[in-house]
Amino acid sequence: MTSRPFGASLERADGWGGAVTARARFDGQVVVVTGGASGIGEAISTAFADEGARVVIADIQDELAQALAEKLPGATPLHLDVSDPDAVDQAFEAVLASHGAVNVVANNAGINDKRAPLHETDNANWRRVTSVDGDGFFYVLRAGIRALLASGGGAIVNTASTAGLVGVPFISPYTYAKAGVVALTRTAAYEYAGSNIRVNAVAPGTTLTALMKSYAASGGDGEAYLKIAENSNPIPGWTLPEDIANAVLFLASDEARRITGHTLPVEGGQMTLGVIQRGN
Ligand SMILES: NC(=O)c1ccc[n+]([C@@H]2O[C@H](COP(=O)([O-])OP(=O)(O)OC[C@H]3O[C@@H](n4cnc5c(N)ncnc54)[C@H](O)[C@@H]3O)[C@@H](O)[C@H]2O)c1
Repeated sequence: MTSRPFGASLERADGWGGAVTARARFDGQVVVVTGGASGIGEAISTAFADEGARVVIADIQDELAQALAEKLPGATPLHLDVSDPDAVDQAFEAVLASHGAVNVVANNAGINDKRAPLHETDNANWRRVTSVDGDGFFYVLRAGIRALLASGGGAIVNTASTAGLVGVPFISPYTYAKAGVVALTRTAAYEYAGSNIRVNAVAPGTTLTALMKSYAASGGDGEAYLKIAENSNPIPGWTLPEDIANAVLFLASDEARRITGHTLPVEGGQMTLGVIQRGN
């Protein structure tokens, strides 16, 4: 497959003497999506593939990654546990060797945990969540930047959370890690702004995925919780994985060429309240 320069667009005549830009902003580009096999990551992988990217679906769920890759033209599954620093380094080296470049990294893999007040949060709980959402996020960011430097530049879009922007009760490790994602997004953006690398983040609000359902169930009456969460934002209804994917693609695209270091909430207006209201 031929590659076009980063951010180039396809143009065709519209029959009226003008040009129409087709939605293929990532034609031929190599995009690594961590946690790319389900939920928000699945929507991100699908959206990039729809716009011509060669997507590497990096996930611990091999069967889901394989099944999704079979549906998406040019996609490849890759087993990756982001909490293993050596595995992350090797994965990016392998993608550089097999695909010739890495143009975009969607640093998206993440887990949540059972809800508990801070003083009842045990060490194992803390380490489990921070090893993926904190350490794993950092390992992918670091290896992703090395791969982009070797490829002449590109874009990274991290998946933070509104829980990294305001206080959310009973998920201390998660809020700690996601606030770190917001902070490192700024720092990395500054460090690599002169190297043709942009680093941004999306902050999903409550989004209907497997992670959200298991989080809701961990607190008792999951169905009641989901009902409250569904319409707790100024824009009624659920934020969907596709809504997050749309923002990720915008931030990764050349349309956002002057945007770096920012975290974009995608949450139905939740942040206008300055607080997350979940009825818990
Ligand atoms: N769903 C929400 O409401 C919500 C809100 C804010 C932020 N987020 C964030 O969005 C991201 C995606 O969450 P989701 O809701 O799609 O969850 P999900 O559970 O549906 O998907 C997460 C994916 O990450 C993969 N994964 C988990 N641990 C991994 C590891 N160690 N290495 C590699 N892959 C791993 C899983 O296998 C899964 O495919 C996460 O970073 C999450 O924190 C989600």
